[in-house]
Amino acid sequence: MINIPKGTKDVLPANVHKWQFVEDIARCTAEGFGFAEIRTPVFEHTELFQRGVGETTDVVGKEMYTFLDKGGRSVTLRPEGTAGVARAFIENGLQGGVMPFKAYYLYSAYRYERPQAGRLREFHQFGAELYGSASPYADAETILLADHFLKNLGLKKVKLNLNSIGCPACRANYQQALREYFRPYLDEMCEDCKSRFGKNPMRMLDCKEEGCKKYTAGAPRMLDFLCEDCRAHFEAVKDLLARAGVDYTVDPSIVRGLDYYSRTVFEFTSDAAGAQGTVLGGGRYDGLLGQLGAKPTPAVGFAAGIERLLMVLEAENAEVPEREPVDCYLAGMDEPSRVKAFLLAEELRKEGLACETDLLDRSLKAQFKYADKLGARFVAVIGESELEEGAAQVKNMADSASERVKFEDLAQYIIGKE
Ligand code: HAM
Repeated sequence: MINIPKGTKDVLPANVHKWQFVEDIARCTAEGFGFAEIRTPVFEHTELFQRGVGETTDVVGKEMYTFLDKGGRSVTLRPEGTAGVARAFIENGLQGGVMPFKAYYLYSAYRYERPQAGRLREFHQFGAELYGSASPYADAETILLADHFLKNLGLKKVKLNLNSIGCPACRANYQQALREYFRPYLDEMCEDCKSRFGKNPMRMLDCKEEGCKKYTAGAPRMLDFLCEDCRAHFEAVKDLLARAGVDYTVDPSIVRGLDYYSRTVFEFTSDAAGAQGTVLGGGRYDGLLGQLGAKPTPAVGFAAGIERLLMVLEAENAEVPEREPVDCYLAGMDEPSRVKAFLLAEELRKEGLACETDLLDRSLKAQFKYADKLGARFVAVIGESELEEGAAQVKNMADSASERVKFEDLAQYIIGKE
């Protein structure tokens, strides 16, 4: 037997309603904020992620699914959604269109990570991106969208953590301070950190090696280096969130694992997601569109991991609607009545009812058992006498009450019992 690749998962029919619940809430919440769905390819030119996400990040440096296609071009399965949306925006000339541009997506992403609970190689994200506004209102509205989404799912124990990582101007001073701080410890730090030291010392703060973590804890904090504009922006975002009644904690240790961020960064975390506590992450990234060739366009967005959300929904015992039951199971007892059941099911479906009938030549008893497993609301039995009479014997599975209902009245009868 050929097994599923490591770090990937099947979603089986018995569980898919949970995914659809999350997806429906995502769509509905995003559309309520004026976001429209965007769909971009699952693979892009490798360079897009190298330039967009950043060469010094773990995602680009270690985790990409990159390969040469048959034409010898280097392509990469998207490790995240932001860079692809930015490329689509630029390539389709949307800069000249309605602003702000607001798009959301629900799609898979690929990272060659060490799999564990909540960390997969193929995972799924709900993401949202807003372009064209540098205003703190845009940051606050994006965070509100994320907050509404999580609350609409019924999650109660998810916490919002917020930070500002400044703009390139104030960050230069901070990077300098970080280098001064880390320099004496550099010999004891991992090889990755040694190379990050020169290229991007902020990445050192994100290092997962225990030997490095002991130094990062005492490192200078970006919040102490913010320039006046960045500080005012951060204060305004916090003020808007507080006025909107959103609880948050300022966490100066959030740097995010991708290079494009500037100013506001945020993460929604849950203890219920185990070691992989971040269910949703995002922030402002005013430099990315310009860096990819567009005219400079401010941007802010986030993405949530669907698998992690499902773990948290389960851990929080949140209510997930069950799969819609079959409205009517039509049971035939002999060949002519089976044909009638088959055709009648088709009539009922045209009226919008969910119906099933026998496909396995089962006995009446076995058909009832199956209908019960399906959670069918009604079972309509058709035998010789019912055929003669032009009416089915209809059993309401909730209270076992049974009535004769004319074939032509059956749809309305079931609809009337909703
Ligand atoms: P990210 O923090 O890399 O950000 O990922 C966002 C979310 O995707 C995480 O919080 C987590 O829930 C989920 N996730 C990431 N990696 C995995 C994995 N290996 N297995 C399962 N879930 C995972 C981004 O991707 C940015 N593009 C977000 C963004 C959009 N920023 C601005 N706009």
